[in-house]
Amino acid sequence: MKLILFAVSLLFLVVGEGTADRLLPKRTKRELASPLHVGGIRDPFGSYCQRRGGCCPGRDDLCTVPYLDTICYCDLFCNRTISDCCPDFWGHCLGVEPPFIGICERNGNRFFTGQTYKENCNLCTCGKSGRWECEQSACLMEPDMIQAVNRGNYGWKAANYSQFYGMTLDEGIRYRLGTQRPSRTIMNMNEIQMNMDPQNDRLPPYFNSAEKWPGKIHEPLDQGNCAASWAFSTAAVASDRISIQSMGHMTPQLSPQNLISCDTRNQGGCAGGRIDGAWWYLRRRGVVTEDCYPFQPPQQTPAEVGRCMMQSRSVGRGKRQATQRCPNSHNYHNDIYQSTPPYRLSTNEKEIMKEIKDNGPVQAIMEVHEDFFVYKSGIYKHTDVSFTKPPQYRKHGTHSVRITGWGEERNFDGTSKKYWIAANSWGKNWGENGYFRIARGENECEIEAFVIGAWGRITMEDMHNHHHHHRRRHI
Ligand SMILES: *[C@@H]1O[C@H](CO)[C@@H](O)[C@H](O)[C@H]1NC(C)=O
Ligand SMILES: *[C@@H]1O[C@H](CO)[C@@H](O)[C@H](O)[C@H]1NC(C)=O
Repeated sequence: MKLILFAVSLLFLVVGEGTADRLLPKRTKRELASPLHVGGIRDPFGSYCQRRGGCCPGRDDLCTVPYLDTICYCDLFCNRTISDCCPDFWGHCLGVEPPFIGICERNGNRFFTGQTYKENCNLCTCGKSGRWECEQSACLMEPDMIQAVNRGNYGWKAANYSQFYGMTLDEGIRYRLGTQRPSRTIMNMNEIQMNMDPQNDRLPPYFNSAEKWPGKIHEPLDQGNCAASWAFSTAAVASDRISIQSMGHMTPQLSPQNLISCDTRNQGGCAGGRIDGAWWYLRRRGVVTEDCYPFQPPQQTPAEVGRCMMQSRSVGRGKRQATQRCPNSHNYHNDIYQSTPPYRLSTNEKEIMKEIKDNGPVQAIMEVHEDFFVYKSGIYKHTDVSFTKPPQYRKHGTHSVRITGWGEERNFDGTSKKYWIAANSWGKNWGENGYFRIARGENECEIEAFVIGAWGRITMEDMHNHHHHHRRRHI
């Protein structure tokens, strides 16, 4: 046993001796200077061995050329070490391609094996064979799709959005929507009965909440890469309804973050959630304003909801009061706003219109398809531009938005196109100032399938108190 061990260590010594002087201390340095080896790979191409005038057979420690701030070898022994051959050793001395370096071209520049660049949403890597190998994901902003929409006669125009550029379609669906399809029980919720009177309920061809209730309809927010449209659409509709119902005595923009961080039961924060849960929270706990509890997009994973930094307690008659300060230093208006139970509207276009006209914006679930992300203007309808592409280019997910009005656009041939006006939560630079128009009366993208209204919970006392606040702020 001892003997074998001895023999083994002797072997190591012998092997080690042959290479130690050249490999151990110097190799490290050379590797740093010229990582001309598998994986590393950055090298000034040029004629080193060729300039030296020849290559040496076997091992020859003197067979070197200056190379950057060190030396490189042109003897056949260098092959074993891989890292210390001159860049042109393979080609000049052996007449072969360097076995481990591929060179890829792009815009007249050379790239080496392992180097990468990003082409829209796909990472391209220079392969061993000198060919770019690119991921094949469908991107959120596909130039083909944008062009096809704009060339076609679809009734709407598409644009390339820098905030979406470089994302995959899957990421768009995962991070920019975020409303779970209501459960079957919720979907079967009774619709409210509306007694429409054909005489008195004449609906105008155009209606816009922002014009009927100026200063009470809130501008679209931006959910960023936070899949919480469940919280954004609910907060937005509640904000408008409270402002309208209080006749402008209060015009709070309610905080989606309050819902995201605090309404966590059966909710997924920025990884998606349910609107029935959001309304439950608004009714039973209430939320503060956006100004008091500002939106903070998630830093790491969408599932992290952040610590809940607002609580409320009952002060009788169903009303609640905040027990914490606003989680920011500049605002101390921590009033809690609540809603009444939400109600489901019928899928009938006219009844939805009447509700908006009488009471204000409503919330709607909608199926978002790949082409909706590039919407810029016009009356949206899901197009067939991706139908001939592989299935990964056709995806959809559930979203929720706020419908604020409607209209009709006359065509040259005398027909007209009816539309809804709706607010999204992708910022004001998306679509028509953050809004979009979508075909009305045909349940486009299921936008008429599940429509919700709710009242703010407002008392006379509220009107008085908030009114007071309001005036004090202006002095
Ligand atoms: C160089 O190394 C490669 C890979 O180990 C081997 O296939 C080739 O025969 C070697 N060439 C010389 C000249 O030693
Ligand atoms: C889209 O926008 C991105 C970033 O803003 C830009 O790099 C890209 O070239 C644009 N693509 C097209 C087709 O305009």
